[in-house]
Amino acid sequence: MQNILVTGGCGFIGTNFIRFLLSDADFDGRIINVDKLTYAGNPQNLADIEDVFRGRYFFIMADICDPQTITDLFAKYKIDTICNFAAESHVDRSIVEPDAFIKTNIEGTFSLLEVARDHQDQLILFHHVSTDEVYGSLGSEGYFTEETPYKPNSPYSASKAASDHLVRAYHKTYGLPVTISNCSNNYGPYQFPEKLIPLMILNALEEKPLPVYGEGRNIRDWLYVSDHCKAVWKIMQDGKRGQTYNIGGRCEKANLDTVEIICDLLDEMQPRAHKRPRRDLIKFVKDRPGHDFRYAIDCSKLETELDWGPEETFESGLRKTIQWYLDHKEWVERVKSGEYLSWVKQHYEDI
Ligand code: NAD
Ligand code: TYD
Repeated sequence: MQNILVTGGCGFIGTNFIRFLLSDADFDGRIINVDKLTYAGNPQNLADIEDVFRGRYFFIMADICDPQTITDLFAKYKIDTICNFAAESHVDRSIVEPDAFIKTNIEGTFSLLEVARDHQDQLILFHHVSTDEVYGSLGSEGYFTEETPYKPNSPYSASKAASDHLVRAYHKTYGLPVTISNCSNNYGPYQFPEKLIPLMILNALEEKPLPVYGEGRNIRDWLYVSDHCKAVWKIMQDGKRGQTYNIGGRCEKANLDTVEIICDLLDEMQPRAHKRPRRDLIKFVKDRPGHDFRYAIDCSKLETELDWGPEETFESGLRKTIQWYLDHKEWVERVKSGEYLSWVKQHYEDI
């Protein structure tokens, strides 16, 4: 793998993945980052990388639904590998406005697969990044394995499920070299503050209410983003073609517990002037429609076959995450004001 097309590289996990690959991984090739720059994509996340890794890192503002541009990139950069992160990723948005989820997640993946099929002679791997949400919702017992039948409940998870099926079908039908990973909830630096953990950190720092859906008993299995990136890279290198790998942190937490832990860590790391605990900001709000009760990943296939395991605990990962948001106030301001979108217009509109 020498010329990797990373899609959605200006989003949360894509940014972390590109940083990992260029700075910390055993990789000396080139990365071609294609991102449409929706509200969730911020090229400033990688502005320093663009300088330091000139000649090895390239950014192209483009839509994965545009086969001509992707075809041109295959020729120009001699792409041999695709790692597909690009997606609409937020469940609440998918409930309000599902259209973009169908377009990018299903049609976009289909379009990429077709371009990949056209270049099968030069393609080493199509890795598709997906979510554990395709498996639906668990009760209080059991785990998702790679054999769990798909039963998605939100427009987001249904669109990701459809894309996974297409990727698998292109392997079975056309022999395309693919791998798929289904990961649990991520957290860490560069996450857009609409997802639970960054939203709670920033609201708490701004003395705003912390909206917990329902009674806060829904359970998520959390994984620090760099552990996800390492797993994806391992699967890309050593995973069996045509196979799916579950990635998870064995770190189940009820949402209310997660929010309380964040409050307590913030109280310790940046106490309020009046010293009262931030837990007093928690506010129970109306539940999400169709809210999946519990996600929990059995990642033993990845652990035993590819010798992967998470390096961060929930506490160490959360401390790093909180510290990152405390240290990157300018990033937070830009993202919240949407200011980076006008920067994007100035820098990339003509490309
Ligand atoms: P994100 O929303 O932060 O980033 C998505 C990126 O994709 C953005 O940069 C956006 O501009 C780009 N994008 C959207 N539509 C595009 C299009 N049509 N063409 C090109 N680029 C486009 O998402 P994330 O949290 O980084 O998630 C990345 C991937 O990982 C997604 O496929 C998601 O389903 C999957 N995933 C996420 C999590 C999680 O907890 N965040 C967990 C498991 C799997
Ligand atoms: P989220 O970060 O949106 O990820 P996902 O829905 O993909 O799991 O939400 C994580 C959990 O936190 C989920 O059970 C919904 C809940 N939640 C809240 O209670 N309040 C919030 O403001 C948000 C955004 C999520």
